[in-house]
Amino acid sequence: MICHGCKSQNTHMFLSLGSTPLANAFLREEQLATTEPSYPLDVYYCNDCGLVQIGYLVPPELLFPENYPYVTSMSQTMKAHFADLVDSIVSEHSPSKDGIIVDIGSNDGTLLSNFLKYDYKVLGIEPATNIARLAIENGVDTVSVFFGEESAKKVREEKGQASLILGTNVFAHVGDLDSVLRGVTHLLSDDGMFVIEFPYLVDMAEKMEFDTIYHEHLRYFAVRPLVVLFERFGMGIVNVKRTSVHGGSMVVYTKKGSDSSAPSVVQAIELEKKAKLDSLKTYESFSKSVATVKTQLRELLQQLKDKGATIAGYGAPAKGNTLLNYCEIGTETIDYIVDSTPFKQGCYTPGTHIPVVDESRFHSTPPDYALLLAWNFEEEILRKEDQFQQNGGKFIRPIPKPEII
Ligand code: TMP
Repeated sequence: MICHGCKSQNTHMFLSLGSTPLANAFLREEQLATTEPSYPLDVYYCNDCGLVQIGYLVPPELLFPENYPYVTSMSQTMKAHFADLVDSIVSEHSPSKDGIIVDIGSNDGTLLSNFLKYDYKVLGIEPATNIARLAIENGVDTVSVFFGEESAKKVREEKGQASLILGTNVFAHVGDLDSVLRGVTHLLSDDGMFVIEFPYLVDMAEKMEFDTIYHEHLRYFAVRPLVVLFERFGMGIVNVKRTSVHGGSMVVYTKKGSDSSAPSVVQAIELEKKAKLDSLKTYESFSKSVATVKTQLRELLQQLKDKGATIAGYGAPAKGNTLLNYCEIGTETIDYIVDSTPFKQGCYTPGTHIPVVDESRFHSTPPDYALLLAWNFEEEILRKEDQFQQNGGKFIRPIPKPEII
């Protein structure tokens, strides 16, 4: 396959998670009898620029249908994180008010809403109409389109240039990266800033976060390959900052006409070298450890079932579906999954068909064990479900090594 970043053909597959349905394709009851389409989930490393990426690209209309179930504001952690991110951008960079602030993949407007108190003009770009509607109801101007060169031109014509463009947890999702970056350079003013955030490959490799691999996540970024990518568009990385969300993420600040020689950028690339992210062997060993997690998790759950314990899942994130499908864990083991997102409740998990229920079920018929599928919100969830633990209930964390908390 051809590398998404540097266009080299020198890529190597190091991990296959099999053929799985789309991780956010939750099913309604009447869909259970139909055959679910599934797609290969194979991961490649580019020997030239170091980009880690999946090989099979599912068309974006299938990945991001008009009705998308993920809602940012479901998590207090993400709300607080975005409020902090906005405060730090405004205080450190004070983007010009001559331009608008654009968020690509703006979801329900949680991030952009934080700019309103600073009197910025904002525009969300969110293809899922059900989610865009929520943003508009929250007072965040939003258009339902996929961001790319064409839509960027239209936005510039109608609203003028942007002094700041954001893309949190979206830059890994777009198929045509070149079109997005051409759109960004067209829409962004010359002194503007493009800020992205993504789960950081260093964290993913260290903490065995293999379940974050699913078809929506086309690539798994480190800073080094991004320097090469941005260079192709005349942009440079002027700063990077690690954050704790989604199992460990990186915020990358880029500008037109800059180079990528800032100390934080150099340090990140050194860290990536130390973590041996530039060696195929690292990924091959990661792949072996993924198989070990599968064996250990299945054994642990089986032991609990043999003792007559009941097990539920906690959180129905997309990554939970990678974990369940790859580890072949279904209704024989998990009675139900509790999730706070209304769009997911009443549905069934793709591939494994486990019912997703609201929190009242978890509280009225608590299981003996809860498999923490939304492990990125461990602190928030354990705090919230203190009573469950006080009553003897236990959480199981699946990665980096399956264990009872
Ligand atoms: P994410 O890891 O892709 O952000 O998804 C997290 C999922 O976990 C999302 O469906 C919401 C759900 N969730 C709960 O059900 N309860 C909670 O307390 C939190 C924080 C998240």
